[in-house]
Amino acid sequence: MMPAQRIVHLLRTRPKGETVEVKGWVRTRRDSREFSFIEVNDGSCLANIQVLAGPLLDNFHSEIKQVSTGCSVHVTGRLVPSPAKGQEVEIHADTIRVVGWAGPDYPLQKKKHSFEFLRTITHLRPRTNSLGAVARLRSALSFAVHRFFQERGFVQIHTPIITTSDCEGAGEMFTVTAFDLDKPARNEQGRIDYQQDFFGRQAGLTVSGQLEAEVYAMALGNVYTFGPTFRAENSNTSRHLAEFWMIEPEMAFCDLDGDIRVAESLLKELVRTAREECEEDLALFSRFIDKNLPEKLAAVSDREFQRISYTDAVEELHRSKKTFSFPVEWGVDLQSEHERFLTEEIFKGPVVVTDYPKEIKPFYMRANDDGRTVAAMDILFPSIGEIVGGSQREERHDLLRQRLHAMAMKEEDYSWYLDLRRYGTVPHAGFGVGFERIVRFITGMANIREVIPFPRTPGSADF
Ligand code: 4AD
Ligand code: MG
Repeated sequence: MMPAQRIVHLLRTRPKGETVEVKGWVRTRRDSREFSFIEVNDGSCLANIQVLAGPLLDNFHSEIKQVSTGCSVHVTGRLVPSPAKGQEVEIHADTIRVVGWAGPDYPLQKKKHSFEFLRTITHLRPRTNSLGAVARLRSALSFAVHRFFQERGFVQIHTPIITTSDCEGAGEMFTVTAFDLDKPARNEQGRIDYQQDFFGRQAGLTVSGQLEAEVYAMALGNVYTFGPTFRAENSNTSRHLAEFWMIEPEMAFCDLDGDIRVAESLLKELVRTAREECEEDLALFSRFIDKNLPEKLAAVSDREFQRISYTDAVEELHRSKKTFSFPVEWGVDLQSEHERFLTEEIFKGPVVVTDYPKEIKPFYMRANDDGRTVAAMDILFPSIGEIVGGSQREERHDLLRQRLHAMAMKEEDYSWYLDLRRYGTVPHAGFGVGFERIVRFITGMANIREVIPFPRTPGSADF
């Protein structure tokens, strides 16, 4: 079987009555006295192509008149200019074969469905305009991530999904075990004995590929990893997933300022890609999802990101006199409401917050000379809050060791990580972008569950 022509190309063709072939799914059928007009979509673009079917087709009465939303069809016919408004071309069908029927119980009838409802039919929702557009945009952005780094000479590293180090130290790792959970091996104290488990020690799904990326940065210079990441974090919010994709570059001979600059270029490049390569899909989001989307995207592309230290940010939040549900004071982590106030109300655009208190950040961040903060940076975006988290890494062996001890982490678990500081250590830095957060921002979607094909969240891993 030959793959058919794609509708996206046919719609851009100047038609000369040539014979074409289309395979796709019926969005609607309506009848005039003589003809049937069938809108077919093949997923190659948002727009449908109109197929005109007439009584000369041998299955016109027996089949075509029964075709309904959701059926799959194989059409051959002539591509001609369309007299109808809003489309340049249409197909006058010579044959229409119904490949698969869909009955009247097909859940996606032509009406607006809520995104909550669509989540209950995750297996069918990519056939809607909005979820189809998200899928195309997501794919274009994923490709743009690789292009961005490859063009700059970064080497992609496939970091492991199963790991034994909890990079962020937040205790949010899902355990990976081969034990029979009804009778796991136990030690003398009655605790689960992971020494007898598959890996001989407790293992889990990675919360970040950073530590392994650092290993490769210390050999190859500039590297990146882009893969699935898992967090057993009980946050049922519009910006948290238990399984999400993270983009993590790691750069040798790089400080915090260089780190921020790469992150800013990457985010701008992703917005540019969406605006230039996904125009039709973006127009749908601006029309139906968020009317202010064009301005929000322009605020990322056209302006330099502003910067503020954590200490000054806390000061600004105090000065605003706004009452937050979590009061803010120096030393506490910024909550989503604080982040959003900073980026939406104070800076009215992306803002980079730097130099957080060391107590609220992971062990690997580089200590600043003030003794109380670390060379950390978070990039905050309107509507989303944190979209990037990064830092310069502690490259000084003794300071890193002290930090591990202060955080009651086992030195022997991180001996390989300390070795990087014993043998040819260099200043280095990196960051992580939550891929779904940037896709959510660019599409204007209100909930992160709409921008990943199969969302995994607390209490939900269907499909
Ligand atoms: O700030 P985080 O936890 O940083 C790290 O994991 C570092 N190791 C990254 C690095 O320096 N290489 O996570 C980075 C980003 C966040 O800014 C956020 O965009 C996203 O990952 N993120 C999530 N996205 C969706 N659901 C979640 N549960 C997320 N947790 C973090
Ligand atoms: Mg973070």
